[in-house]
Amino acid sequence: MTASHSAAPRPHQALPGKPLAGKASVPGDKSISHRALIFGALAVGETRVSGLLEGEDVLRTAAAMRAMGAEAERLPDGSWRVRGVGVGGFAEPADVLDMGNAGTGARLVMGLVASHAMTAIFTGDASLRRRPMGRVIEPLSLMGARFIGRSGGRLPLAVVGAQQPLPISYTLPVASAQVKSALLLAGLNAPGITSVIEPEPTRDHTENLLRHFGAKVEVHDDERGRVITLAGQPELRPADIDVPGDPSSAAFPLVAALIVPGSEITITGVGMNPLRTGLFDTLLDMGADLTFSNRREQGGEPVADITARHSRLKGITVPPERAPSMIDEYPILFVAAACAEGKTIVRGAKELRVKESDRLAAMARALAANGVALEELEDGLIITGDGQAPQGSALVGGASVATELDHRIAMSALVLGLAAKNGVAVDDVGMIDTSFPGFVALIQGLGGNLTPETA
Ligand code: S3P
Repeated sequence: MTASHSAAPRPHQALPGKPLAGKASVPGDKSISHRALIFGALAVGETRVSGLLEGEDVLRTAAAMRAMGAEAERLPDGSWRVRGVGVGGFAEPADVLDMGNAGTGARLVMGLVASHAMTAIFTGDASLRRRPMGRVIEPLSLMGARFIGRSGGRLPLAVVGAQQPLPISYTLPVASAQVKSALLLAGLNAPGITSVIEPEPTRDHTENLLRHFGAKVEVHDDERGRVITLAGQPELRPADIDVPGDPSSAAFPLVAALIVPGSEITITGVGMNPLRTGLFDTLLDMGADLTFSNRREQGGEPVADITARHSRLKGITVPPERAPSMIDEYPILFVAAACAEGKTIVRGAKELRVKESDRLAAMARALAANGVALEELEDGLIITGDGQAPQGSALVGGASVATELDHRIAMSALVLGLAAKNGVAVDDVGMIDTSFPGFVALIQGLGGNLTPETA
C-alpha cells in the first residue's frame, strides 16, 4: 500500500456550472469501520463486515490488526473477513505501526496496546505526527502503560503496555470519542470495571459495538454527565456488521446541492446516529431544504436517505454545545455559511485546531483568499455570507487552497468552488482517499464541474 501523502500532488479545480442532480451513496462510516476491524480482531472467531470504508485511514487499522496477529482480508464480494485473537490475545507487532493520517486509528490501537504486555511503536504522516497524544497518554498511564514519545507526546511514540493493567474511572477533560474509546478498549483487557465519564456525550459507536459483540457495558446519565461502565475481560463473540454510509462524507455533496442554484440530489443510506447529526440540525436552522426519508436500521445504527435542494440559507449562531455531534463537519458548515445571508457565528470549536490540520486557521485562510468576509476567533469563526447574490457576488473565488494534508479542507474548498464565480482550486486531492475514496467521481456524477487542474 502506497501512502497517499508520499504520492505526487494532484491539483484539481472546481468551477460553477450546471445544477447538481441525481442519486448517489457515500462510502462506509469511517468511525464504525475502524471499530469494526478492531472488534473483529478482538472476538474469538470470524466476523464479516460489509460496507467497510476502504479509505487509507481504515486500511492502516486493518494492517495494524494483522501486525498484532488477527486476520483481516477483503473477499471477492467486497466484504471483509476478520478472524480475531480474543481479548488479551494480541501479539507484539514486529515492526513500527504506521497509522498514516489517522488520529482515530492511532489512538484506538494505542488503547489496545496499553493493556497488553508488549511494546509497539507508532508513527504516522506529517499531519498525525503534529497531533497531541497527551490526551490518551495520561489516562492510559494511570492504567499502567508507559510511553516514550517526542515533546508534547507526539509521534513517533513507543507504548509499553502494562503487565497487569488496572481498571480506572476517568473523567474526560475534552469531549473526545477517540479518548473514550481508547480507554474502553484498554479496559477490555483489565480485570474489573473501567468507567469513563463524559461531561458532553460524544459518538457512541464503541459502546454500541461492545454490546453487539457481547461485552457488558452500561450507560447512564448523572450530574457528572454520561457515565459508561465496562466489565473487563469478557469473551467477545464474532458479530457481523453492515456499515452505514458516513454522514460526515454525505455532508459534502449535500452542502454542494444546497449552495448550487437549481440543484436537487439524494444521498442514500446515510448514518443518522443522533450523536453525529449536528450538521443537519444546523443546516435546518439555517433554512436548508433537507428531507429525510426511508428511515430504517442498518447494523444497529439508524440510517436514512437524505434529499437536499438548493436553498436560500441564512446565517445563525451555532449552539456551541452542538460541537461534539458535528465536530468533523465545521469545515463544510463554513462553506454553507459563506453562501448564507448574514452572519454565522461559531464558537466553542477549539478542538478544530488539533484535527488533521488547524481547521479554523486553514478554513479562515481558504475562505478569505476566495473573497469571503470573516473573523477568526480562538475558538471559532464569524463568517459573513454573501446570500448567494447572483450578480456581483462577494463569493468571487479564484484562489488556490493549500489542503495541508487534510481531506476535509480539500473537499470543503472544492465544494466552495462549485458556487464561487471564478471557481476554487486545491493543491492536492490525494488526501481525500483517507476518508472518501471516489469523492471526485461522485461529484462529477452529480454534474459538478470538478477537474484535474492543468497549469
Ligand atoms: C472520531 C472522533 C472524533 C472525530 C474523528 C473520529 C472517532 O475525534 O473528529 O474524525 O471515530 O472516535 P475526537 O475524539 O478527537 O473528537
